[in-house]
Amino acid sequence: MEGHKPFSGRDYFITLFVALILFVLFSSYLLVRRGYYFDAPPTADMLYVPNKALAGVGMVMLALTFLVGPITRYFDRFDKWLGLRKELGIVGAFFIAAHAIISYAALPKKFPAEWYSFAEAEFAAGLVGIVLLVFLFVISFQKIIGLLGPARWWFLQRWGMRLVILLAVIHVFDMKWAGWVKWLTKAPAAPTLELANPWMPGLGLYVGLFLGWVVLVRLYETLFLFKNIGIVSKEISTDLVLRTRGRRFFLASFALLAAGYFFVTLRWVW
Ligand code: HEM
Repeated sequence: MEGHKPFSGRDYFITLFVALILFVLFSSYLLVRRGYYFDAPPTADMLYVPNKALAGVGMVMLALTFLVGPITRYFDRFDKWLGLRKELGIVGAFFIAAHAIISYAALPKKFPAEWYSFAEAEFAAGLVGIVLLVFLFVISFQKIIGLLGPARWWFLQRWGMRLVILLAVIHVFDMKWAGWVKWLTKAPAAPTLELANPWMPGLGLYVGLFLGWVVLVRLYETLFLFKNIGIVSKEISTDLVLRTRGRRFFLASFALLAAGYFFVTLRWVW
């Protein structure tokens, strides 16, 4: 049974450092693609671009919490990473909370409050996702873990995170799919004040591909290795055959992800 862990300043430091690096990378990419960062043209809000970077970092951190399990099960040398899941999840949740608050309250030109309909799947999913993240954060305090007991706590964390990821997939793919298909199938649009380099893929496409890959790795593991959906904890690291199959699928699908990145990055070269 996977247990909980006490506060670790070192692990928060590592995780925040990873988040910072991702934030700088994503922000720089968006700056080049859009041609501005805070100083948006009159049709966009000051936080329009920074919000995209926040959402991207938060999403990648949450996807990583979901990926650390398979990585440590298939590759010995990454065992240390297992302990980072809690911090990855909490730091990711804070980025996503900032993204949700900014999206709702600080982007009146792009997304005025009355524009949101929480009856639509894409926003209902986002909203339930945030509520669930707050719930998982609250029950991650030592005292509450003690009250719940480790088995119930483990169950709630496991299924809670699975649901968060599912809701994130609905939120992102429902909102962005049509735009991605259009971008991939039509000639690049002419540059505008809001978008200096339309031939560059949106950050969301890179993040979406990563999220899709992580979900694929977990689905394969659940359906073909664990062969149960995880009502109870099960160990596969000791089963060499399953471990080899998991590793093979992990590496093959990673190659596919890399090919996907290659394809979208060089979309307008061919
Ligand atoms: C678990 C909760 C959530 C996650 C994981 C999440 C994640 C994301 C991600 C990764 C994107 C970027 C998609 C892209 O650039 O292609 C995005 C976009 C967006 N999200 Fe969320 N989000 C969540 C909750 C919310 C909530 C509660 C709201 C609104 C109150 C919201 C409003 C938006 C909006 C308006 C966009 C489009 C931003 C843009 O294109 O500039 N999200 N979200």
